[in-house]
Amino acid sequence: MSEPPKIGFTSYDRLRGVLVTFCAEGLKFGPATQKALAPIGDLHRRAAAADRFTGKNGSVLEIVAPSGLNAPRLVIVGTGKERDLKDRDLIKLGGIAIGRVPAAAAQATILAEFGAGALKADQIADLVLGARLRVYRFDRYKTKRKEDDERPSKVEVNFACTNPAAAEKAWGTHAEGLADGVVWARDLINEPANILYPNEFARRASGLRKLGVLVEVLDVPAMRKLGMGALLGVGQGSSHEPKVVVMRWNGGKRGADPVAFIGKGVCFDSGGISIKPAQGMEDMKGDMAGAACVVGLMHALAARKAKVNVVGVIGLVENMPDGKAQRPGDIVTSMSGQTIEIINTDAEGRLVLADVLHYVNKRFKPKFMVNLATLTGAIIVALGQEYAGLFSNDDKLSERLTKAGEATGEKVWRMPLGPEYDKAIDSKFADVKNTGGRNAGSITAAQFLQRFVDKTPWAHLDIAGTALGSPQTDINKSWSSGWGVRLLDRLVEDYYER
Ligand code: BES
Ligand code: MN
Ligand code: ZN
Repeated sequence: MSEPPKIGFTSYDRLRGVLVTFCAEGLKFGPATQKALAPIGDLHRRAAAADRFTGKNGSVLEIVAPSGLNAPRLVIVGTGKERDLKDRDLIKLGGIAIGRVPAAAAQATILAEFGAGALKADQIADLVLGARLRVYRFDRYKTKRKEDDERPSKVEVNFACTNPAAAEKAWGTHAEGLADGVVWARDLINEPANILYPNEFARRASGLRKLGVLVEVLDVPAMRKLGMGALLGVGQGSSHEPKVVVMRWNGGKRGADPVAFIGKGVCFDSGGISIKPAQGMEDMKGDMAGAACVVGLMHALAARKAKVNVVGVIGLVENMPDGKAQRPGDIVTSMSGQTIEIINTDAEGRLVLADVLHYVNKRFKPKFMVNLATLTGAIIVALGQEYAGLFSNDDKLSERLTKAGEATGEKVWRMPLGPEYDKAIDSKFADVKNTGGRNAGSITAAQFLQRFVDKTPWAHLDIAGTALGSPQTDINKSWSSGWGVRLLDRLVEDYYER
């Protein structure tokens, strides 16, 4: 409906429309900013004093119709102490800056200079990334525009810098693909389940072929042949058939073992026969956020032609109650050969992942595997929406993920695994059961997954808290966050490319 702002680059001497600038703690402005603000004399200093604005990181001062300037509005964004600003700070500041461009504006310029002076091209790209994520909206299904919709309808926003061509290049070579990946993931998650069921999800993921990603779609007969009884059991109550999508990006050395990312793609989780309560069930259209993240990540890596071999595999199913649905007490045989007693049909994500993890491990022998899943409500109780739960059999991989989380702001918190938890999931009738009782729900779910990964370095990210119902942040105003795309893009970059 209303279009997102058009974002571009320009030079310091072409400041048009609303002017957004930055200053460091202590009202420290860079030289180009000082020059731009010269015509207003000490107006901004008096305004700052009146508002007790000192330039703290993330704080904002706004002056409407500043006399001396052509700009209808001057916005000053504080960067705080600029000594060690991380990528996540730059991204956030980009979000804050564009967030202050008012609805009515036709044009705005963000003067991409900090208190300490000019920014590097890749720092400007990070600002733009934050801006792009901030203006994201999902309004595909709104046919009427509200009177008070305060969204800029057709605003053009330019980032002014010393070398616009270099900034544009930095944006185009890495950050733009990453932004598109996050946006794609958010779109998939926001999409309702009557539109986005497994087949349609697989069709959209196949769009990665345009970037040179090899995409295979496994249908039910193929999965039967492989023996994926755990995944198939989850899908058998739905009129939409399950699919597994295998995406491969071979940007690395020919024949080198890949790294693998696996996503839970439950397009709708009603709970099945163990049906969920009505309240909030609509959120379960987002139970495919792990899979959406994997698709967004593959897009980001392919768009920047990452020099790495990666496989992304997603298990797409719909969990519904039906005469054909699986029951509590049923026993299924997973591809690994292990039998699983179904205690609760609402613990379906781990069943899907059990088969996909085993399949990926066996077929691709990856260097490491990371899976993402909106797996348990218990992780929200434990960590809220700030951190995703990290479970891993490998300290090195855990450290890398933790570090990438700190850099990007998509933070993970390691939780325990261990044989002590096995008794909770040992079954009377089969090798394992799919729930572990009331206590330590996120851990017993992870412990279940671990039984399907053997010795390969592996990490499970429980993103039930971080992916859905996101709090409004400086870089996201949407229900879905696209959480994990930036984290894993960084993990791959740190692993191979630095
Ligand atoms: N998809 C849910 C977990 C979830 C809850 C995701 C809230 C996002 C927000 C998962 O399939 C589920 O139903 N888990 C159960 C497990 C239980 C039956 C052992 C849960 O967390 O209650
Ligand atoms: Mn469930
Ligand atoms: Zn689920």
